[in-house]
Amino acid sequence: MTDEPMGAEACFGEEPARDSRFQVKQRWSECCNLPDDHPQKRTEFLHRQMNEELNSLEISSRALTDFPDAAWALRLRIARQCADEARHALMFRKVMEQRGGFVGAYPVLNFQYRIVCRLATLEARLAVQNKTFEAGGIDALATAVTETAQAGDVDLLRLFEYQEADEIAHVRYANEYLRSAMAADPRVALDVARALTEASRAFAEVFGSAAHRIRYEVSTGTRLEAGFLPDEIRGATAALARKKTAGMQR
Ligand SMILES: [Fe+2]
Ligand SMILES: [Fe+2]
Repeated sequence: MTDEPMGAEACFGEEPARDSRFQVKQRWSECCNLPDDHPQKRTEFLHRQMNEELNSLEISSRALTDFPDAAWALRLRIARQCADEARHALMFRKVMEQRGGFVGAYPVLNFQYRIVCRLATLEARLAVQNKTFEAGGIDALATAVTETAQAGDVDLLRLFEYQEADEIAHVRYANEYLRSAMAADPRVALDVARALTEASRAFAEVFGSAAHRIRYEVSTGTRLEAGFLPDEIRGATAALARKKTAGMQR
């Protein structure tokens, strides 16, 4: 392994399988970016979320099959996460279809799977998927729950509340596991740091200038519930601000 920084293309692995209904894209700019007041904006969002939940399910499933020797207690947590993510995908599909959408109606991205499943260790995968992507998800959900409650959209509010409770638990077990793994072996911290750098390079490649349109902020309350330390939350706040600024400069 070399210490030379990797180019963005090398930070992506293979695509997950999708049937012919799906239109799979590689960059955000190739997707269906509707204006906020478009009548299909919400349906497109729900379709995208459904596919993101599939990515989470596929990443967790691969963690079980690729690391059969991991501790049983950790494998049990990952298996439970598989069940949660499958339930989330079904919930999003149902609400999306109730609002006039259908599977394959809009293009999808599988960047999470492509970024995470090429990583060689379970620790690196949990750091990128649960501690980074899903932690960003709980920040976004905190905003979504507030906005949906204000709009009086009860069906969607229930979905977001169920999802938020599950995602907090996913982030928390990864935080707890990674903290003890790093305490037992400092090399884990180096492996994780390398994976996070590569993931952030790949994420920037996928989203380009769209990153500055991120509307949510880091949610201190939910991150504390999810097992982050105050210093880590300050770091995440600074990283999100950098991501938005970098998007503006592209
Ligand atoms: Fe989920
Ligand atoms: Fe999750």
